[in-house]
Amino acid sequence: MAALLEVENLSVRYGDLMALRSASLSVDEGEVVCIIGPNGAGKSTTLAAIAGGVRPVSGDIRLEGRSIVGRRPEHIARLRLSLVPEGRHIFGTLTVEENLQIGGYMLGDRAAARAGMERLLGHFPRLRERLRYPAARLSGGEQQMLAVARAVMTRPRLLLVDEPSLGLAPRIIDQIYEILLELRQREKLTLLINEQSSARILKFADRIYVLRGGAVQVEGRAADLRDGEAIHRAYFGFGTQDSAPAETAA
Ligand SMILES: Nc1ncnc2c1ncn2[C@@H]1O[C@H](COP(=O)(O)OP(=O)(O)OP(=O)(O)O)[C@@H](O)[C@H]1O
Ligand SMILES: [Mg+2]
Repeated sequence: MAALLEVENLSVRYGDLMALRSASLSVDEGEVVCIIGPNGAGKSTTLAAIAGGVRPVSGDIRLEGRSIVGRRPEHIARLRLSLVPEGRHIFGTLTVEENLQIGGYMLGDRAAARAGMERLLGHFPRLRERLRYPAARLSGGEQQMLAVARAVMTRPRLLLVDEPSLGLAPRIIDQIYEILLELRQREKLTLLINEQSSARILKFADRIYVLRGGAVQVEGRAADLRDGEAIHRAYFGFGTQDSAPAETAA
């Protein structure tokens, strides 16, 4: 059986810059897969290409075996794939409830959207308490929760999340991951998540891809990568036992 998502030899170019170089990855139904890598590795580009926001120069992206390359973002969203972008992009002047309603409009069925919001708020008690607040007044962690909740309002089966832990305290990051794992269980979500650091991810993810310079350097089950050496080597290009190249030694 085909994986839920297959990315095959994907290359993306911005002008002269190759942001992705023949990168391949796959995500099975129900998995939590994480892409980690340093700044500029191509992580956001990968998620944007999958969601239809960036057009690759070559390669294929398949959802349940069907190619979605070149489709418009709205079309891809209707295939129940949703992206929580880097930087969250919530509407600060609108209330929490209105932000969630915007997610719900995609469904085109008001009654279903209302029932969906009610069900969803069960996972986000802090958002329920703040439904009438302007979103700009939420803390960073609450804004991230809102961005995730809004994306889940469209009832995706595949949720792409770009750096959910960016700028948040460790305790809040853990809470967000706990919610994501709960959503996987209860809403039958499959998750593909970008992160810069592997510290926490190894605990939450089933499988990991390390991306650097637009190419997949290493992939494997999180359980097999826990000692961290293979990830370190892939991430930095040298191992913990080697001496660091001069320009990266700080
Ligand atoms: N719209 C764009 N136009 C031109 N270059 C871009 C654009 N978006 C990204 N890039 C470049 O492509 C490369 C990959 O960027 P990308 O945002 O995918 O990396 P990333 O792994 O998400 O990094 P970060 O961890 O900093 O978010 C970088 O060198 C970046 O400067
Ligand atoms: Mg990024």
